[in-house]
Amino acid sequence: MPPPKSWTPSSESPDSGEGTRDAPHGYRPWPNSGRHEPASPFRVRRPSALLSFFDRMRAKKAVIAVIGLGYVGLPLAQLFASKGYRVLGFDNDPAKIAALKSGKSYIASIASLEKTFEAVPSFGRLADADAIVICVPTPLTAGGKPDLGPIRRTAAVVARHLQSGQLVVLESTTYPGTTREEVLPRLKKAGKPFLLGYSPERQDPGNRIMTLDSIPRLVSGVDEDSKEATAELYRAVTVEVIAVSRPEIAEAAKLLENVYRSVNIALVNELKMAFDRNGIDVWKVIDAASTKPFGFHEFRPGPGPGGHCIPIDPFYLAWWAERGGASAKFIRLSGELNKRMPEYVVDRLATRLKLKGAKVLLLGIAYKRNVGDPRESPAFAIAKVLVRRGAKPSYHDPFFAKPPAMRHYRGLKLPSASLESIPDFDAVIVVTDHSIYDYEWIARNARLVVDTRHAVVDGDNVIRA
Ligand SMILES: NC(=O)c1ccc[n+]([C@@H]2O[C@H](COP(=O)([O-])OP(=O)(O)OC[C@H]3O[C@@H](n4cnc5c(N)ncnc54)[C@H](O)[C@@H]3O)[C@@H](O)[C@H]2O)c1
Repeated sequence: MPPPKSWTPSSESPDSGEGTRDAPHGYRPWPNSGRHEPASPFRVRRPSALLSFFDRMRAKKAVIAVIGLGYVGLPLAQLFASKGYRVLGFDNDPAKIAALKSGKSYIASIASLEKTFEAVPSFGRLADADAIVICVPTPLTAGGKPDLGPIRRTAAVVARHLQSGQLVVLESTTYPGTTREEVLPRLKKAGKPFLLGYSPERQDPGNRIMTLDSIPRLVSGVDEDSKEATAELYRAVTVEVIAVSRPEIAEAAKLLENVYRSVNIALVNELKMAFDRNGIDVWKVIDAASTKPFGFHEFRPGPGPGGHCIPIDPFYLAWWAERGGASAKFIRLSGELNKRMPEYVVDRLATRLKLKGAKVLLLGIAYKRNVGDPRESPAFAIAKVLVRRGAKPSYHDPFFAKPPAMRHYRGLKLPSASLESIPDFDAVIVVTDHSIYDYEWIARNARLVVDTRHAVVDGDNVIRA
């Protein structure tokens, strides 16, 4: 059999070397696999199981299991299913599996893929898969440290059902070393040969131009065969696959991408506060600076970042850096500064309104415009500060008819209100600038507007925050 086209001489890889060394764990997924052979420019002698994985991927016979059917896992499952692969979806939330089985999901279109997608209640069916992709959450503990519980538990479940030759790929965002230190030893307990890769998810929710299949994919593996198999898996659904030498590079690259955003958002948020205090409109400054055609990238201030990435990832990287004896002051500071923004928004409101007893409407409680994801949204932190300072917050959001249940805000009273009731409120805070809102109408009808997104035009009743 000729070598698959994707197999390139290892010397062509910019990172070549590191990934082709024997992995420190000493584990050899394929007896006599390519990486133990004398260097061959075209790696023609591959284990038949790996060849069979390539063949099954190309013939669309491979079965893909996705564990964790949330904002990352479900679109990925949908993508593989829409390309004709059989996809098995797993989640430890039985309600989610039941909802998917009944055709109810936040991705309605997955229901139309019933021929290729199946939500599976029992993890025993992992044994049917050629590749298993792990997309479980990576939250912080109450003390602000990485909580790898979901990854560890999932790795243990996969090990229990592992079949010889399966490819396992971790997609969750995490600190460098997780794939090798946490997943690999758990899978090894199965005592069977397997392949293990890491490929970070890079989606931009709400972005219709850069979609899951058009965003270049970083892939890596704990050894060369694992890397090649991981690359082959994503080549089936992505325009471009970039292989890096080790999982640690891919894990760190994902954190770099998000910490870069966190640091720059913190910078503009700090500048916003300094400029506000000195009578300068930060938005006009950003517009002016953005005319420079090089060396400046625009970041926009706001009420504080939300979602499952920017508020969390700096603390993963900082914890990991400090564990290794390095300083991470700058990274940690960006996370802390961004967390202070909700209090600042309320401070700005308090410059024009007595908060005790004031009725305040939060417009938008999703963390980002035009998405229905409330996780880590600053809206809830703002509501909490308002309550603490004696105000009565309500909200409006087209994505949430009812307030979503929020783990960290149990007991927070945040009733929903209609847009028509805006004139009845003492103030409106634009937290999330969903595009369905008519900001001119809002400015005309609200008594006072606190605008955290630069959505409303200047006016006597408008405060920027
Ligand atoms: N949401 C994003 O925009 C985004 C972007 C890039 C990367 N990520 C990363 O992807 C990972 C997943 O994020 P998400 O936003 O999809 O999370 P999510 O909370 O939306 O979904 C995770 C799913 O995993 C399930 N789950 C939790 N523990 C499980 C277990 N032990 N076994 C099986 N299922 C389990 C949950 O029930 C949930 O359905 C995180 O590491 C996150 O940082 C997220």
